[in-house]
Amino acid sequence: MKILVTGATGNVGKFVVKELLHMGEDVVAAGTNKSKLQAMFGNTIDKVILDLTDNQTFSKALENIDRVFLMRPPHLGKPDDLYPFIQAMKDKDIRLVSFLSLMGVEKNPFPPHHKIEKQIEEAGIPYAHVRPGFFMQNISGIHSVEIRDRDEIFIPAGKSKTSFIDTADIGLAAATLLHNPIKFKHTAHTITGKEALNYSQIAAILSEVTGRTITYVSPSLFHYRHYYIKRRGLPKDYVNVTVALYLMTRLGTAKAVTNDFYHLTKKYPRTFKEFAIENINCFR
Ligand SMILES: NC(=O)c1ccc[n+]([C@@H]2O[C@H](COP(=O)([O-])OP(=O)(O)OC[C@H]3O[C@@H](n4cnc5c(N)ncnc54)[C@H](OP(=O)(O)O)[C@@H]3O)[C@@H](O)[C@H]2O)c1
Repeated sequence: MKILVTGATGNVGKFVVKELLHMGEDVVAAGTNKSKLQAMFGNTIDKVILDLTDNQTFSKALENIDRVFLMRPPHLGKPDDLYPFIQAMKDKDIRLVSFLSLMGVEKNPFPPHHKIEKQIEEAGIPYAHVRPGFFMQNISGIHSVEIRDRDEIFIPAGKSKTSFIDTADIGLAAATLLHNPIKFKHTAHTITGKEALNYSQIAAILSEVTGRTITYVSPSLFHYRHYYIKRRGLPKDYVNVTVALYLMTRLGTAKAVTNDFYHLTKKYPRTFKEFAIENINCFR
């Protein structure tokens, strides 16, 4: 039997695929975009079209599958969007689903991940939730534009701290769970980096690594929202979600540091400095 990896071309999914292959598992990479899948994986592994909003694609995607890495594509804001696929996994007697959730959702009913976790549990599917902190890739991805163009970190997180984690480490954690479905049945894991840093510390590390002076400008939530919608042209719904997340971050919800990654993998998570060195081209 094989493991289906949803969002296989995404920040986390690509590392779940990589780590599962290292562990000798048979993997099927899923996404909605055939050419993206082909460009990323070539003919090295099985690929399948799966649109989580189109139940016509479910049966083929779940053929010969007994475990699933499930992620919520960021633009699917309603938890109900994932319920039909959760039902399809239940009908197929999936042995373990590892859902890419979010740190703290067990106590916070507002993010969609909370209800999705509950739906999986109530369906009776064996689960191993992965609840990561903020991705380091947010800084090398969506927020790298201002760093490259103006040497500025333009994030409305005030003086708060965040226990950033590299998505490569999240991929290893999820693959470890899926590789051991009996051991990790009915578990949840909060995966964070080794330390919580504020954005001035992130700016200092980026300055050291790039050799430029990179400054944390700490905009207000309002200024950030206006800039990201009007100047960056990003979708309003997406920006609103990030505003809510940075508001929560200001209240201290992103700073917890756990040992879960070490317990699962017997390795330490990458530091932000190691990440910045490895991904320096994103900041040039
Ligand atoms: N950013 C953070 O700091 C953070 C922290 C904790 C949790 N999270 C959670 O992590 C998730 C995002 O993970 P990510 O960053 O790895 O995602 P990502 O890089 O944004 O990739 C999204 C993936 O979803 C696929 N996709 C898009 N529409 C789809 C559909 N209708 N059906 C099936 N697949 C679809 C895309 O592939 P195709 O284009 O081929 O369809 C792509 O592989 C979100 O749920 C987010 O809330 C994020």
